[in-house]
Amino acid sequence: MDVLALLKQDHKMVANLIDQVQECEPGDERLRELGEEMAQALTVHAAIEEKFFYPELRDRAEEDEERVDVFEAFTEHDVVKHLIGLLKSSRRNDEQFKAELQVLGENVKHHVKEEESTIFSLAREVLEPEELEQLGEEMETAKQRMMRGAAKSNGRKKKATSTTTRRKAAHKGATRKKRR
Ligand SMILES: [Fe+2]
Repeated sequence: MDVLALLKQDHKMVANLIDQVQECEPGDERLRELGEEMAQALTVHAAIEEKFFYPELRDRAEEDEERVDVFEAFTEHDVVKHLIGLLKSSRRNDEQFKAELQVLGENVKHHVKEEESTIFSLAREVLEPEELEQLGEEMETAKQRMMRGAAKSNGRKKKATSTTTRRKAAHKGATRKKRR
């Protein structure tokens, strides 16, 4: 698949998650899940773009303004990563969590709009169709590898959490026994 088609597919998937957030009331259990899915998808997406796509465009761009556009995309990724970081903070109530998800969604929408216009047309200008295709293959492979890695570490985290929960429960039981 060519790189532009691959990225468009990712954008569509994330746009769908953003729409689902809008439909949820604050405190809806699905919001946490949507947040996790968005964080994972965007982290992988940003990583492959920053590793394979943007540097190629930055190096091949002929105009200063085109390089500014590429750096703008990098900077927008930094903002998105910061917003993803907020989701992991525990100092928030249900309304705040939904607000953070919405701000993340708005930023992603803005970034996607600029990427699909400015960045994609720069890519079409400086890369040959075969290069777009090859880049797409490389990025797809990297993406699959990263998703497998994330799934593995998620599995480990879940296991660790359930052990901690069990340990805490055991500890509570012990404390209760002592009090009696
Ligand atoms: Fe991007």
